[in-house]
Amino acid sequence: MTQPMIELRGIHKRFADLEVLRGVDLTVRAGEVVVLMGPSGSGKTTLVRCMNLLEEPDSGHLRVCDCAFDCGSPRDRAGRRLARQARRRTGMVFQQFNLFPHMTALGNVIEGPRQVRQLPMSEAIALGERLLDRVGLSGKRDEYPSRLSGGQKQRVAIARALAMEPRAVLFDEPTSALDPELHAEVLEVIRELAGEGMTMVIVTHETHFAREIADRIVFMDGGVIVEEAAPEAFFTRPTQERARSFLRLVDHTGATAAAPLPRRGEEAV
Ligand SMILES: Nc1ncnc2c1ncn2[C@@H]1O[C@H](COP(=O)(O)OP(=O)(O)O)[C@@H](O)[C@H]1O
Ligand SMILES: [Mg+2]
Repeated sequence: MTQPMIELRGIHKRFADLEVLRGVDLTVRAGEVVVLMGPSGSGKTTLVRCMNLLEEPDSGHLRVCDCAFDCGSPRDRAGRRLARQARRRTGMVFQQFNLFPHMTALGNVIEGPRQVRQLPMSEAIALGERLLDRVGLSGKRDEYPSRLSGGQKQRVAIARALAMEPRAVLFDEPTSALDPELHAEVLEVIRELAGEGMTMVIVTHETHFAREIADRIVFMDGGVIVEEAAPEAFFTRPTQERARSFLRLVDHTGATAAAPLPRRGEEAV
């Protein structure tokens, strides 16, 4: 039995009067690829942000890469250290890339290793070059984000997430902000990561991709998980009416795409 990499139990989260997560239980095993789907506003982004503590759940129990938390009570020093560790072990890739605009591609990738892992410059650069090469961007190391296409920016963002040597990577609609012809280059990088056995949670409306890459589809609506199934079963015979009507709405390219909410502290470039 493979050990769970991420475990959520009874996770609740509200923003003022709005209860966004209403008791979510989810286990992601090491090496597993879980695709999270659901209508806009169902709580997908909030849920993945809770997985690496970018958002703090109000209550529930969370275990991320060996760091366990009871949510909702204030953290002592050890708890805060554990939270930083959990955050470091889970890479995050955002819909809007969130690259640092004043740093080159290489600068973006090595910022975390330099600041957080405190790698010496020469090592950080070697790591950054290796990762840019891995996402097919070695020729762009000195470009600023404003001179990169959306697909290139997102690949830099993936390299940046990998630079922290995460145990799991969380993707929040990584292709939704891209023109359709740029989706493939980003999906290819994610596909390669899956092939290498990376644990991943991917929020996406790309049904073909989800079907190909996912070990499991998790369907959310109204802040709860409504259905969980292997891709084949989910796409051919969803048991819940809400999943059926959702699947009728998403087209083949996966475009249901609602406009994302900008979040505090996340500059979109
Ligand atoms: N920081 C926030 N403050 C207030 N409301 C929020 C915040 N983040 C999300 N919400 C609300 O929570 C609900 C779920 O949002 P979200 O998790 O982004 O859903 P999804 O990613 O499935 O579209 C939405 O109604 C959204 O407006
Ligand atoms: Mg979202």
